[in-house]
Formats: sequence, structure tokens, C-alpha cells
Amino acid sequence: MSKPSKKFEGDPETTGHVWDGIEEFNNPLPKWWLWTFYATIIWAVIYTILYPAWPLPGGATPGILGWSTRGDVAAEIAAAEEANAAINARLEAADLTEISKDPELNSYAVNAGGAVFKTFCVQCHGSGAQGAKGFPNLLDNDWLWGGDIESIYTTVTVGIRSPDNDETRFSEMPAFGRDELLSKEEIDQVANFVMSLSGEPKDATKVEAGAAIFAENCASCHGDSGTGSRDFGAPNLTDAIWLYGGDYDTIVETVTNSRYGVMPAWSGKLTEAQIRAVATYVHQLGGGE
Ligand code: HEC
Ligand code: HEC
Repeated sequence: MSKPSKKFEGDPETTGHVWDGIEEFNNPLPKWWLWTFYATIIWAVIYTILYPAWPLPGGATPGILGWSTRGDVAAEIAAAEEANAAINARLEAADLTEISKDPELNSYAVNAGGAVFKTFCVQCHGSGAQGAKGFPNLLDNDWLWGGDIESIYTTVTVGIRSPDNDETRFSEMPAFGRDELLSKEEIDQVANFVMSLSGEPKDATKVEAGAAIFAENCASCHGDSGTGSRDFGAPNLTDAIWLYGGDYDTIVETVTNSRYGVMPAWSGKLTEAQIRAVATYVHQLGGGE
């Protein structure tokens, strides 16, 4: 222990500790700081009792309030559902054709239906419902199965060639080439005829032969004049709007191997109100009948 160093005027009290002639001044923490520090400790203890806090192997301690972020979200969803319960009930009870005549119900259905569409339909029908090869455009007034609100509602509910719905819309175009119902030559001729239906100039003799083949093999579904049939979801072949394609190669491919477009049935996956909402949304996109 060495001797305390020299004191100067105005130096604070010392604690009496001295090392190598260096004394420790007695400078306690300010009271406000100290009390804030104690307050944080008390707050931390209370917090860990009330809220989830200490991580343990089986999950964090739950806290006696039982609060969780997951519970918060569930409560928010429940609140939103409750807020919409009345209008959803009205939507479910309404006559489909009356929805568009009730401005409040219509605006709710279109908005809710738009949200359903963005979640469940865009991956096939495109973000703007414009469709893609094999997936119909829902903006135009060209419909395979019908464009009035009831037909759209039915299509969405039961699906198309949907394996998990007994009522699904169904038809199957024969694979004329693969199953040897028509020869290559006949397919060539009927493809020429199909192209001529939408005004594309084709080999006249083939078109004539193709017309006879069409009348015998295709008209039962696509209609005598090729304008299609909604009973079979058979496309109109005269309007130059193509689901798979109207060039020669694609038509030959369609007739040779046929197509089998599948759309899931949405009953059971969406609520009745959601199906009605999305049908209303699709119906008002532009092509609704
Ligand atoms: C897995 C892909 C897929 C999804 C998801 C899908 N669709 Fe479809 N949809 C199709 C296909 C394929 C067709 C055409 C089937 C055919 O060839 O007849 C179709 C046809 C339709 C039709 C009939 C169009 C017409 O011309 O008659 C409507 C309406 C429709 N979809 C609405 C919807 C709505 C609404 C949703 C979302 C709830 C949806 N689709 C989700 C694949 C899908
Ligand atoms: C049993 C009914 C049926 C018969 C018979 C039939 N089709 Fe089809 N055809 C359909 C259906 C349904 C589609 C829609 C394709 C699908 O399954 O997704 C279709 C689609 C097509 C397409 C595609 C149209 C597009 O927009 O891309 C062409 C082309 C076509 N058929 C031509 C023919 C020709 C030619 C014949 C006769 C040799 C024929 N079809 C006979 C039901 C039929």
C-alpha cells in the first residue's frame, strides 16, 4: 500500500481505496439513473411472468396472459369474418341473377371475388384473367360452358373433368389419330376444313373432303357449322379465338391426340359465399352474359 497522493481543492470525497498511489473518488451514479435501472429490472420480471419469454427445449414459457402473435392473427381473422358474416349470409341467400342489381352486395362480391381470384385462379387463368394456351381467357365473350352468372357459378362449383367431383362438367373429344378413327390424310383434310371456318384460305379440294369428315365425326359436338356446343364444352371453331391454337400443326395435334382440359372443382375448397363472389367477379370482367 502506497501513500495517498496529494489532495487538491475541489476534489470529491474518496472511498479510501488506494492502489499504487491512485485513490478512488466516491462518485455514485445519479439517483435518476439508478432508479431507472431498478425499474427496468422490475419491468423485466413482470414481463416474463405475463408474456412468453424464456426459451426452453419444448418452446418458450407461455406467460400467464396466454398471449401470442398467432392468437392475435386468429382474433383478427375471426373479427373480419364476423364483420363480413351478415353480408356473406346475404350473398349466400341471394338469387344469383339478383346480385348485380343490389349495388352494395355487388360491390362486396366483386371485391371479395377479386381477392379469391388472385389467390386461387391466377396460376391457371393469368393475373388479368387473360388465360393462356389450354386455359381460357375469361375476359372475352367466348365461352366454352356458358357465360351467364349461373353457368359460371356451376363451372366453378363442379369444375371441368375434375376427378374429385361426381357432377363435374364432362366431355371427351376422341383422339382421332391415336385411336385410328381417322387416317393421316383425313386428319389433314379436316384440319384444312377447320382452318377455313375462321376464314383462313386453304387448299379447296382438301376443304371439301374435310367438310364431309367434319359432318360425320365432329359436328355432333362442334355443331353442323362449327360454332361449338356448350353442352359439351366444345369450342366454337369459327371465331378465330383459340384455346389451344388455330395454326395447322396445332389443329392436327388436337385432332390426333385430343385434349383434356381439367379445372378443379371448388366446392368444398371455397365457401359458398366465396364461390358466389368469384363467379360475380368473373361475370363482370367484360364477357358476362
Ligand atoms: C389448375 C388450373 C385451373 C385453376 C386453378 C382454375 N381454372 Fe378455371 N379453367 C381451367 C381450365 C383448363 C379450363 C378449361 C377447361 C376446358 O377445356 O373446358 C377452365 C375453365 C374455366 C371457366 C369456364 C370458361 C368457359 O369458357 O366456359 C371458368 C368460368 C373458370 N375456369 C373460372 C375459374 C375460377 C373462378 C377459378 C378460381 C376459383 C379457376 N377457374 C381456377 C383451369 C383452371
Ligand atoms: C365428343 C365431343 C367432340 C368431338 C366428337 C370432337 N370434338 Fe373437338 N373438342 C371437343 C372439346 C370438349 C374440346 C375442348 C378441348 C378440351 O378437352 O380441353 C375440343 C377442342 C377442339 C379443338 C381445339 C380448339 C381450340 O380452340 O384450340 C379443335 C381444333 C377441335 N376440337 C376439332 C375437332 C375436330 C376436327 C373434330 C372431328 C374430327 C372434333 N373436334 C371432334 C369436343 C369434341
